[in-house]
Amino acid sequence: LFAGEIDFLKGVVAMDGLPPADRSEVCFAGRSNVGKSSLINALTGRKGLARASNTPGRTQEINYFTLGEERYLVDLPGYGYAKAPVPVVEKWQRLLKAYLSGRPSLRRVFVLIDARHGVKSVDTEIMTMLNKSAVTFQAVLTKADKIKDHERQAILDQVRTNLAKHPASFPEIVVTSSEKGEGIPILRSIIHGL
Ligand code: GTP
Ligand code: MG
Repeated sequence: LFAGEIDFLKGVVAMDGLPPADRSEVCFAGRSNVGKSSLINALTGRKGLARASNTPGRTQEINYFTLGEERYLVDLPGYGYAKAPVPVVEKWQRLLKAYLSGRPSLRRVFVLIDARHGVKSVDTEIMTMLNKSAVTFQAVLTKADKIKDHERQAILDQVRTNLAKHPASFPEIVVTSSEKGEGIPILRSIIHGL
């Protein structure tokens, strides 16, 4: 993923606004504030590309980025608690679910999990839905800089136990820090290889 290859395409607020499913795409899903937008910025090396902030519910649209001519990267609104009006949140949650279960060109969903918190019930809900729709997903731990080395194993075990219940999951867990750059090259090469 080279900075020069990537461009913002559009923000989508309804299923009929999605671009044609004519190339493969990967998306970043996860609870509000887990670090989806920051991870896209870290992957692309462009700080302000996807808007990140400390306010849960920052990303409210399905944001499409073109990656070269052949792929899309997609930044999603978060699920779970968000600092936004209830009807607005409900609208984007419905869109999110429709997108995640009904996008034929979706190659892989990266399900982001905060390394401090592990898999929560809303994550399980999304994994169950992806599994039902047979969409391959992969767990990515975020904010690894915020946990101590000795805490890693327990959190990895918790995530692994949850993944084992979902055959659509990819077994390898990627540990990342957008802040420190950990795991970013690995994730880049995974995306390149898809
Ligand atoms: P929504 O769009 O609201 O769903 O959030 P998001 O998942 O896109 O999270 P975002 O990237 O906006 O980041 C949320 C907060 O977490 C910001 O304050 C980021 O600076 C912080 N953050 C993200 N990634 C990391 C990380 O790897 N390490 C640390 N320490 N903080 C991070
Ligand atoms: Mg965001």
